[in-house]
Amino acid sequence: MKSVDIRNKYLEFFKKKNHKIIPGSSILPENDPTVLFTTAGMHPLVPYLLGQPHPLGNKLTDYQKCIRTGDIDEVGDSFHLTFFEMLGNWSLNDYWKKDSVGMSFEFLTKILKIPVKKIAVTCFKGDKDAPKDTESSKIWESLGIPKERIAFLPKKDNWWGPVGSTGPCGPDTEMFIWSSSKKPPKKFDPKDITWIEIWNNVFIEYTKTTEGKYLPIKQRNIDTGFGLERAAMILQEKPSVFETDLFLPIKKKLNKDETYVRIILDHVRSALFILVEGIKPSNLEQGYVLRRLIRRSIRYSKLLNLPEDYLINLSKDFIKLYEKLYPELTENKELILTELEQEKKKFENTLKQGLRIFERETSKLKSKTIPGKLAFILFSSYGFPLELTKDLAKEHKLKVNEKEFKKEFEEHQKLSRKGSEKKFKGGLVDHSKIVTKLHTATHLLHQALRMVLGSHVQQKGSNITPERLRFDFSHDKALTKEEIAKAEKIVNEKIKQGLEVNVKEMKYEDAIKQGVLAFFKERYPEKVTVYSIGNFSKEICIGPHVKNTKELKNFKIKKEESVAAGVRRIKALVDYK
Ligand code: ALA
Repeated sequence: MKSVDIRNKYLEFFKKKNHKIIPGSSILPENDPTVLFTTAGMHPLVPYLLGQPHPLGNKLTDYQKCIRTGDIDEVGDSFHLTFFEMLGNWSLNDYWKKDSVGMSFEFLTKILKIPVKKIAVTCFKGDKDAPKDTESSKIWESLGIPKERIAFLPKKDNWWGPVGSTGPCGPDTEMFIWSSSKKPPKKFDPKDITWIEIWNNVFIEYTKTTEGKYLPIKQRNIDTGFGLERAAMILQEKPSVFETDLFLPIKKKLNKDETYVRIILDHVRSALFILVEGIKPSNLEQGYVLRRLIRRSIRYSKLLNLPEDYLINLSKDFIKLYEKLYPELTENKELILTELEQEKKKFENTLKQGLRIFERETSKLKSKTIPGKLAFILFSSYGFPLELTKDLAKEHKLKVNEKEFKKEFEEHQKLSRKGSEKKFKGGLVDHSKIVTKLHTATHLLHQALRMVLGSHVQQKGSNITPERLRFDFSHDKALTKEEIAKAEKIVNEKIKQGLEVNVKEMKYEDAIKQGVLAFFKERYPEKVTVYSIGNFSKEICIGPHVKNTKELKNFKIKKEESVAAGVRRIKALVDYK
């Protein structure tokens, strides 16, 4: 079954079960300073999982681009990836375990036609925080999954969330499919990697507090995540995700070391999906993840003696492969390829020098461990991501003192932030006050810029951390001092006027007709929530916002710069008190 059919069948199946298909979100989480990337389908839905009503109802389904770099060292085996697509379905205080497990079983066996004898599941074993999940295991048994194919595992395996350190979470039940042509053993061993996990149904019935306690919550939700690439691998009967139709048309052109090729394929694909969001390679946050991915793929392509233009050609192939599904890649092709090329040049300039330093310094070592300081110098002065130094170390049978590296890295970050790393925690889940204020300030700024510069100003991206708001918008030249001062003044006036912030649900069409601002034309569901600030601004948004602009007290633009051709970036603050 082609991956596009798997994706469509999933959405269609849940649509028939009265779920509304919603568009996936950006790979950059908006208004969530606790994580760098969207890591699961539920992530953009956290406000709804916390009780905010969703305009489309209580049963939702979608596909979501995700990035997880925690397993970056595992990439190269048959199924680990840093970028993947997660299909998901949600119940917001609606159906519970019986329906959820029942629908998953029906989809796997009836729609995907996976034989029951190739299915095994895990359930939560129970501990001091929550009881053993026999409710789920009994449902599985009633559907025909034999007891020997049900394993009970602890929190480490069968519990999901919260995304940050606090918030919604709960026990889960995971589905595994036997991936070999050999007969599956009678008894399920979750450690046997021939059993591939493809689906996780999370029963969100707890919230984790800042003290680390798990409290039952009133609104019970279900969150599921189904891995597209892994499903494709099983249904296309391939030995790895890299042989599925999501990679094969591109991969065929190579005939080299398999592990290295897989790393290059994975990393380049992830890099493209980050670049398309307007992120540039740098030494901080998302930019650093991007840099690591690009530099690592350059280094492996050099080890394989691939042609100079290899990465660019590979990128073009990926962009083409995703042309229909993710047209933003095609729309931003030039920009993406230019950035990639520039980063390649930058890296090549320092790579040789860095390698010389590496050889010289490691030949002097008295032990088998590379000090964190050296790894950090390679990082900060020669642009070697830690993984690269680790790869090199491995090739020389050495290790890197990662702890020491981390310490150096944190020191450096502290210095570079010049002490502005205030004591703000929070995040999407506890929606710290300051993030909420900055969010409302972003709407005010947007409208102010449209007044000062013209209505061609469109949001191109937004990111909020407790330290500042960052707003990217279309405009083709640097702002003058006067323009910046004007925009700032308008926002401050609106703050002083104490405008009320109101939220309303309406049809997307009606919102557009009323002149409400919306930025990702293709991404909105048919019904949306609109936030209006007095009569000044109206935007489609999921919040949260302050109740009255007075709460912002004061607004200050700190920086204005270019991010890409035709796109400017503003960083700004509100009063912290
Ligand atoms: N959020 C759950 C996961 O990522 C479904 O596994």
